[in-house]
Amino acid sequence: MNEHDSERMAGILESQGFVPAASAEDAEMVILNTCSIRDKAEQKFYSELGRLAHLKGRGGNKVTIAVAGCIAQQEGEKLLSRTPSVDMVIGPSDIARLSAMIEKKRDLGRPVVETGGDPEYHRRLVPASRTDGLKAWVSIMYGCDNFCTYCVVPYLRGRERSRPPRDIVAEVRVLGEQGYREITLLGQNVNSYGKGLQEPCTFPELLRRVQDADGIERVRFVTSHPRDLSDALIDAIRDLTKVCESIHLPVQSGADRVLASMNRRYTSAEYRDKVQKLRKAVPDMVITTDIIVGFPGETADDFACTLRLLQEVEYDNIFAFKYSKRTHTKALGIPGHLAEEVKEERLAQVLELQKGISLRKNEHHIGSVQEVLVEGASKKGGMLTGRTRGNKSVNFPGPVHLRGSLVNVRIIAAGPNSLSGELCV
Ligand code: 5AD
Ligand code: SF4
Repeated sequence: MNEHDSERMAGILESQGFVPAASAEDAEMVILNTCSIRDKAEQKFYSELGRLAHLKGRGGNKVTIAVAGCIAQQEGEKLLSRTPSVDMVIGPSDIARLSAMIEKKRDLGRPVVETGGDPEYHRRLVPASRTDGLKAWVSIMYGCDNFCTYCVVPYLRGRERSRPPRDIVAEVRVLGEQGYREITLLGQNVNSYGKGLQEPCTFPELLRRVQDADGIERVRFVTSHPRDLSDALIDAIRDLTKVCESIHLPVQSGADRVLASMNRRYTSAEYRDKVQKLRKAVPDMVITTDIIVGFPGETADDFACTLRLLQEVEYDNIFAFKYSKRTHTKALGIPGHLAEEVKEERLAQVLELQKGISLRKNEHHIGSVQEVLVEGASKKGGMLTGRTRGNKSVNFPGPVHLRGSLVNVRIIAAGPNSLSGELCV
């Protein structure tokens, strides 16, 4: 989401005549697009800002330092007084105001802040500067209404707003014409796409409409909330040929008590049921998830339920995090906050367990032929790299001119994070 917001800001700057600088030292403007989903992300920003402070040194460098993203939204004006090197603070729903802000700062000669949130942002056509050429992100909605008790997103990115389907389809068509092969539709909770639209459209319908775009070969989407994963969406994944067999379905915990306390609004049995349905409809579905360990009040038994769920579902990959206290959120007031050591220990156990599962899942592919979108030369010399429809990384020998093609690759070896193979001729 943030990387795509950065592409949007770069798009606005380029439309104003800016060009990318070789380094921060050479730049007229530096934007730090920040994340505050967990404390670690927030700390990264403060240390990066510290590293950039020298640009404002006695040399009289006129660089403008802007802070965008969720920390900008969270801290607002306070960033100016606390971090004097900052000249501009811009919230995630105020991106379309970037050029006006630059002018304002130039005219007034003092720092500017915009975090009020543009109520029309989801209807604006904001340019994007994409550099990949093959794979593109396309936002379909902003914000989130779910209020999971650990999560700061609804407070910073606001209520859920869907972009008009017509705008999304038009954007995807242009991407197809420009040579893009794969799009990933982005939203905090794509399954509930469509709320409040003038022209009604559900997420499965949107998938159907975008896959008609010429040139686009693959359609992906993130993120899906398990509660909103409907039968209609499962049917769409099964039936729509360009929609890839891969889904990120964050479970967060395997314990019903913890899920309730997180306000996830599903039980682990309901979750397992959805996974079964998905696998029944699409047997080779690649499923990944997010796990939070050490949520307040998580007992050793609750944690054991999470480990059991991982063993049962056998995800292809997971993203696991230690619970991190976030401002505004209800979880702050839930009793039983755990010691850092306990969270560390649980995280290590989850990662260790998953490493074996990921390896086994990848080894299942050995001997199979996978359709791979070639992305170009791999970091390993003489090899190409690309992704399967399940979004697994594959390395194989082949000529660089294949970049952008769909090729068949026979898988001959597997590690926990990638596959290797050979081109089928
Ligand atoms: N602490 C730890 N992990 C969190 N996530 C969101 N908020 C927190 C938090 N306070 C994780 C969830 C979510 C992913 C994007 O980040 O697992 O799915
Ligand atoms: Fe946060 Fe929950 Fe919304 Fe995801 S669904 S962004 S975890 S509140």
